[in-house]
Amino acid sequence: MKVLLLNGSPRKEGCTFTALTEVASALQANGVDTEIFQAGDPTVENVKAAAEKLKEADALVVGSPVYWASPSGQIITFMDKLCSMAGQDMLHKPAAAVTSARRAGTTATLDVLNKYFAFYQMPIISSNYWNMVHGNAPEEVRQDEEGLQIMRTLGNNMAWMLKCIEAGKKAGVTMPEIEEKVKTNFIR
Ligand SMILES: Cc1cc2nc3c(=O)[nH]c(=O)nc-3n(C[C@H](O)[C@H](O)[C@H](O)COP(=O)(O)O)c2cc1C
Repeated sequence: MKVLLLNGSPRKEGCTFTALTEVASALQANGVDTEIFQAGDPTVENVKAAAEKLKEADALVVGSPVYWASPSGQIITFMDKLCSMAGQDMLHKPAAAVTSARRAGTTATLDVLNKYFAFYQMPIISSNYWNMVHGNAPEEVRQDEEGLQIMRTLGNNMAWMLKCIEAGKKAGVTMPEIEEKVKTNFIR
């Protein structure tokens, strides 16, 4: 089992990375492989590289810093492209969004990111609070003990869900049938 974690900050080893690292450590402690992918660069080539990794991944975590009370422009562009390119490889895979902020805009950021998951019928994994850490620098995030616990709990919950899905497959539980998409546009 493998989880792909996207870091939607242009800062490669900043606060979002620190939060994702805590999620990844908890997943690894549960025997789940992880890869943190630098998604702060939304060029087509980089999105294609992530799309390749998504094919092999069993679950997805998307991390973003809060910029102007929203996700970073980089991760929005990245996710828009990834969904067009590889949305089919997101279907029914567990997913979670995490965010890092100095102070505010966290829940609005999570709302935006969770909507990508809902569209692709991904079970959204939660924690013991909304998935956020606080800090302007990694060392501040490392002092946010509640934030780190939220990240660990999220990793544990995601590992549990992945194991339930695997056990379900072995017991003969099949994926839901996918109906052809109906689109109703009320435009005259
Ligand atoms: C352009 C920009 C806009 C930001 N807007 C907000 C904001 O609206 N609310 C907030 O709390 N922090 C804001 N911040 C601070 C970052 O969210 C915070 O430092 C975050 O932890 C950085 O994560 P990173 O190190 O992964 O990039 C902003 C930072 C930048 C660079």
